Amino acid sequence: MNKRFYVTTPIYYVNDIPHIGHAYTTIAADILARYHRLIGYDVFFLTGTDEHGQKVEKAAAEKGRPPKLHADLLVENFKAIWGRLNITNDAFIRTTDVNHVKTVQGILQMLWDKGEIEKRSYAGWYCTPDERFWTEKDLVSGNCPDCGRPVEQIREENYFFLMSKFHDRLIAYIEGNPTYILPETRRNEVLGFLNNNVLGDLCISRPKQRLAWGISLPFDDAFVTYVWFDALVNYFSATRYLAPDAAMAGKGDFWWPAQHHIVGKDILTTHAVYWSTMLMALNFPLPGNIFAHGWWTIEGRKMSKSLGNVVDPHAMADKYGVDAFRYFLFREVPFGLDGDFSEQALVNRINTDLANDLGNLLSRFITMTEKYFSGSIEKTVPYGRLDSDFARQCIAGFTAAHRRDVWSRLQFHIILDHIWEMVRAANNHIAQTEPWKLAKSEPARLTEVMFDLWNTLRLVALSLYPFIPQTAEKIWTQLGLRTLIEETGQSRAGNGEFPQIFDIEWTPGYAIKTSRGEQLFPRIEKEKKMTREADTGTEAQGEKKEETNLISIQDFAKTELRIGKVVSAERVKKSDKLLCLQVDTGSMRQIVAGIGKTYAPEDLIGRKIVVVTNLQPAKLMGVESQGMLLAATGADGIPVILMPEKDVEEGAKIK
Ligand code: MSP
Repeated sequence: MNKRFYVTTPIYYVNDIPHIGHAYTTIAADILARYHRLIGYDVFFLTGTDEHGQKVEKAAAEKGRPPKLHADLLVENFKAIWGRLNITNDAFIRTTDVNHVKTVQGILQMLWDKGEIEKRSYAGWYCTPDERFWTEKDLVSGNCPDCGRPVEQIREENYFFLMSKFHDRLIAYIEGNPTYILPETRRNEVLGFLNNNVLGDLCISRPKQRLAWGISLPFDDAFVTYVWFDALVNYFSATRYLAPDAAMAGKGDFWWPAQHHIVGKDILTTHAVYWSTMLMALNFPLPGNIFAHGWWTIEGRKMSKSLGNVVDPHAMADKYGVDAFRYFLFREVPFGLDGDFSEQALVNRINTDLANDLGNLLSRFITMTEKYFSGSIEKTVPYGRLDSDFARQCIAGFTAAHRRDVWSRLQFHIILDHIWEMVRAANNHIAQTEPWKLAKSEPARLTEVMFDLWNTLRLVALSLYPFIPQTAEKIWTQLGLRTLIEETGQSRAGNGEFPQIFDIEWTPGYAIKTSRGEQLFPRIEKEKKMTREADTGTEAQGEKKEETNLISIQDFAKTELRIGKVVSAERVKKSDKLLCLQVDTGSMRQIVAGIGKTYAPEDLIGRKIVVVTNLQPAKLMGVESQGMLLAATGADGIPVILMPEKDVEEGAKIK
């Protein structure tokens, strides 16, 4: 049986629109999942959505739809972005899944039966948006210490998980397992917190009269459970019904515990303290590691809806490509630290690391093989036994990029550094050996040099695969290798060791045919990267436009048009003209349009329309519109909606 590897992301609040923060955690988990599949593990990679609680209940009520329907519509935003970013999650858990609900209730019942839960009368300060209680001394100027919003005093009966009992055991566990919480700075923070505070018990219920949208306590139907208690259990419940061969999990705990829970630093306490003690109380094994990553600021500022600087991963992928975005996130900042995102920095990385170092290396190599060997690569001396500095550097880089401790500590930037050692060594090797001279003077040596370059590119592609999978496969194919990298992993023995692949089986005299493909990363020139500056346009430009009434192609390119599918439609209250549509344009958005006199809402459901997707949101009769649909004005002044002539997938760009 293969070794197993189970990795999780947090389950995201279904209400949120996916942004760079969500993408960051999920791509990190994808890198680990892909890597472990490559080295022959059986992998279970889980992500999903957190769907209960006050925020969802409230947002659904505002839209006038039942919370489950609301979640059903919004969950598609997450599914769409994971597809777009080439995320290979094996399962997607929703906390509204019937099986999850049953598992949570089973666990609550177990804890209740074991006496780990107690009913008490409780008075505290409650922060409604954060759905949690605070004590008087927690408050900052009378407000919630977390979000700064007002709190209200509430007295009620509630159920408590007796978390305080596990205080010492938790400290001992973290101290005894140095990689349980990573990075180390975060581990020290958690230990500092535990050593300097008295751990209280955790209120795990909410009376239904205050919050109905949750999982009922199996032993008291007047309450639902606290949303975090429900959410954390997802990591366990998925192993019971979503994991590959879930039946096996039931029999022998095949998948539990997870090797890594990857989370953002803001939710480390809930994982390190609540989840760990819940597992202790249940007598379940603890996960191998909880890794808390840092936060991205955007051009030096906190990312927030009100500042309008939320980075949309769809937009980044469209503009720069999925792989460039994936690469940037893990190259720019050591995983675990905070980082700053800017398009300028992303463009710099593309132009230097990806276009210049990596892309040029491959295209120079292909050009030379075409020129000197009509595209064929032959092997002479076995790689690795060649007594050259180049071979040594590559093997050292490759070995370092696959060190187990570096991977188990999620030090992605170090791994990428080592991969780039190989890339740089290969570029230097070309500069030093000057193959164009060898072609005339030493043809046998040229064959060796070209083979070494080929083999180095092969190892680079393998190593890059978890990070930038599409690019790695493109390199692989151009090198003439037929089986995809993705498939090579699945056929491995599965002992979790990276195989001895410095050398490959190669019958003497055998030649492999390379094939030139598209350029990996075209350089991004100034006009393209400066869209932001162009957006703010100077006055002089404005005047010029008026004079001619013509716009440049760059101006037109600023308008993002996409095909959208109308998922639901309703009339805006007190308006006979306005309709409010929920439209899937690759992600869900709400569009308010003045077409209510000519179109009935039910006629639009399922129809494909054209949407301007990068308009600043605006409110029409108090309802937010996140874009605009295109319609022509007919002869009698009535709007006629533009629809594609043939079926086109929602989210398709119109150019
Ligand atoms: N539902 C809970 C998690 C329950 S897990 C049992 C939750 N959901 S969330 O949608 O708010 O999750 C957001 C995730 O995105 C967190 O890991 C958070 O750290 C991450 N980020 C949100 N903004 C971020 C940045 N600006 N930068 C990096 N990551 C950030 O919490």
